[in-house]
Amino acid sequence: MVLGFMNQKIRIGMLGFGTVGTGTYRMLLDNREAINRKIGREIEISKIGIRDATKERALDQAHFTTDLNSIVTDPNIDIVVELIGGIDPAAELVEAALMHGKHVVTANKELIAKHGSRLVHLAKSKGLDLHYEAAVGGGIPLVQPLKHQLAGNEVIRMMGILNGTSNYILTKMEEEEADFADALAEAQAAGYAEADPTNDIEGIDTSYKISILASIAFGKQVPVEAIYREGISKIGITDIEYARSWGYKIKLVGVVDAVGNDAVSVRVHPSMIPNSHPLASVNGVYNALWLHGDFVGDVMFSGRGAGSDPTGSAVIGDLIDVGRNIVGGGSGSAIPYDMGMNVVPIDDIQSAFYLRLVVKDRPKTLGEISMVFGAHEISIAEMQMRTLPHDQGEIVFLTHRASEKAFADAIKQVRDLESVASVASSIRVEDKQ
Ligand code: HSE
Repeated sequence: MVLGFMNQKIRIGMLGFGTVGTGTYRMLLDNREAINRKIGREIEISKIGIRDATKERALDQAHFTTDLNSIVTDPNIDIVVELIGGIDPAAELVEAALMHGKHVVTANKELIAKHGSRLVHLAKSKGLDLHYEAAVGGGIPLVQPLKHQLAGNEVIRMMGILNGTSNYILTKMEEEEADFADALAEAQAAGYAEADPTNDIEGIDTSYKISILASIAFGKQVPVEAIYREGISKIGITDIEYARSWGYKIKLVGVVDAVGNDAVSVRVHPSMIPNSHPLASVNGVYNALWLHGDFVGDVMFSGRGAGSDPTGSAVIGDLIDVGRNIVGGGSGSAIPYDMGMNVVPIDDIQSAFYLRLVVKDRPKTLGEISMVFGAHEISIAEMQMRTLPHDQGEIVFLTHRASEKAFADAIKQVRDLESVASVASSIRVEDKQ
């Protein structure tokens, strides 16, 4: 189809051609006609910046350059799509692109979580767009709905499953009793995991994503270093089985709670989610964000949170948005937010807990443990026990909500009890409604 109203093409310079780059490129080829029609002008990728020129690529080599700087300074390029990830050299390249008058679309969660406020202000001051939908939740629209459709709400609570790799691993463990290492290897083979899977399984990736979502929802940048974080590497199949027996699933979640008028609690950790909560049925590589707003009530978004095609889809959505602004002569729709969100320390909040102890199977063990709980004002809601070989036993508790500080202090004391062999695991528990 020939679009008569098209004149000059919109030219894209792409930085990085890995998992997300490939998906983006393929979508642009496959859906070219619809994308051009929606923008109202033809869009083309004129250069692709790569770091390793020796890698085999399924594309015409003429597109590629290893001189990334030549892309961000090229006067013929209108939009820079940054898909390198990480801070160095992405931060400098994005800044240079904006300084040279280019709109930017990025999938880089670390960059936006750490430098979003500064970069969005820079974009705004130059009348440019800086979009980052693909940085959070792969193909699920989360950033734009929080910026726009839900913006009038006071967000009371958000809870997100934001790492596809971790959710894939936990689901495999739950459904197939798979080993942690095997499930991780499968997630890596499927292209979901980060270059270093520590970022996925230790909650670092989730902390970037929840920081971005909280920053948009509350209008101030949440510093990543203020986010309390625990990963999933210590979760065992035993914990998954106990959780199931009480009607819960274990998920790695990013949680944000409004605290008073000017602070938030933001944290990343595994949680036992009641089966009745919509997040409990989000499985595999699927991600979801559930939130409660004062007027909208409960909302949940879900979809494929990682992988080449879903993430490419989010990049293309942003490109279409920027393309429309260029065609319509808009002055840019970057929405700036300032630094300095006040994040309360984890010790200041309350949680319910699951606790699994390996103990000596002998008189008074249970009594000694309950004494410690009682002394810290921690009330036990449920309990299960079983004997283990070698005169040991396993005791598993669910507590009512208690102060995080009191629970941490109690655990220290429980660990030191002569009757306790080890604190096998402790996991926060979401209330059943
Ligand atoms: N490694 C991420 C995940 C995908 O597993 O969700 C990109 O953010």
